[in-house]
Amino acid sequence: GGIMTMTSPVRRDLVDAPLLVAARGQAPARTPVWFMRQAGRSLPEYRALREGTPMLQACFTPEMVAEVTLQPVRRHGVDAAILFSDIVVPLAAAGIDLDIVPGTGPVVAQPVRDLAGVGALPELDPARLRPVADAIGILLGELGPTPLIGFAGAPFTLASYLIEGGPSRNHERTKAMMMSAPDVWHALLGRIADYTLAFLNVQIAAGVDAVQLFDSWAGALSEKDYREFVFPHSRKVLDGLAQAGVPRIHFGVGTAELLPAMREAGADVVGVDWRLPLDVAVRRLERAAPDAPKPVVQGNLDPAVLFAGWGVVEREVRRIVREGKAAAGHVFNLGHGVLPETDPTVLTRVVELVHSIP
Ligand code: CP3
Repeated sequence: GGIMTMTSPVRRDLVDAPLLVAARGQAPARTPVWFMRQAGRSLPEYRALREGTPMLQACFTPEMVAEVTLQPVRRHGVDAAILFSDIVVPLAAAGIDLDIVPGTGPVVAQPVRDLAGVGALPELDPARLRPVADAIGILLGELGPTPLIGFAGAPFTLASYLIEGGPSRNHERTKAMMMSAPDVWHALLGRIADYTLAFLNVQIAAGVDAVQLFDSWAGALSEKDYREFVFPHSRKVLDGLAQAGVPRIHFGVGTAELLPAMREAGADVVGVDWRLPLDVAVRRLERAAPDAPKPVVQGNLDPAVLFAGWGVVEREVRRIVREGKAAAGHVFNLGHGVLPETDPTVLTRVVELVHSIP
């Protein structure tokens, strides 16, 4: 039934796009740069357009999704657009009662705490994601040579919202379920992995050029727990996309100890936050998999540095581009999302600076 959403994609010929060249571990004409959360509250044109429209409603309105996605591309000249959506959109499309509360984040009406709760999670009919596919269709006609990145939340990060019922600092209920009820845990993550894969498959069928799997909160786990409780589910998602041939970026925050495992899960590009210099990240990845191709990384300017004045910003950007040379390919980005109070003119200058460095 879901096939109706999958009109044949306009797979654009973007082989030379710097983002896609770098993702293949080859040498692009310039270092590609985009920013997580480049669309959003840092832009006055975003705040004006979103005025009066709740976040989830915006995510299911194709024209609004397309316009918000295009705003940072026009303004900053970034090397990629990222689909405007949210990691909870496939959960909402499945009919799970949740809301995105401004200033807080996703809030789930009935948190999942036991096997009955997992069993009550509805199936996701991909046809419910038709508005997302329609938005991508509009974007492919508007983006010209700029690649479009699709994305989804990884099973662990989505599980945390479903189990805690909202954002959590310590993920205590999540870890408690993981460690004390592994049968419930694996049933839940299996179901979430199916949602994630369905969301990504709709985006790939509609024509996105790359995808990023956000496991934003995976850094809360030890490597041992990550490998036992999370890795199999993230690998199922990333493996499930391998045939599509689009580069897979895998990102989390505070994941210095998890980078080799996150690559092994099936990443073509490993996202790194600001806590670890990129050259050190590359060495860790190489040591963990000496026979694998040289790694490709994305990152890793601390979003707070954008508040420190241009002298500091310039020094840090130059350092990161230099350290990124240790990788087979480097996609310049922040170490996490753009903070809402960021001066967008600084972001534009960062793009120009990255492009100007040979
Ligand atoms: O990067 C982009 O520009 C694409 C858009 C995007 C959004 N959410 C838009 C959004 C992406 C990639 C996401 C993913 C997402 N959502 C993640 C993973 C990335 C990360 O930051 O680690 C997570 C953890 C979420 C959950 C979520 N949704 C949070 C924590 C929030 C912030 C709540 C707040 O208001 O402070 C949201 C809401 C959200 N998602 C907004 C945007 C632009 C703000 C909503 C608004 O403008 O009203």
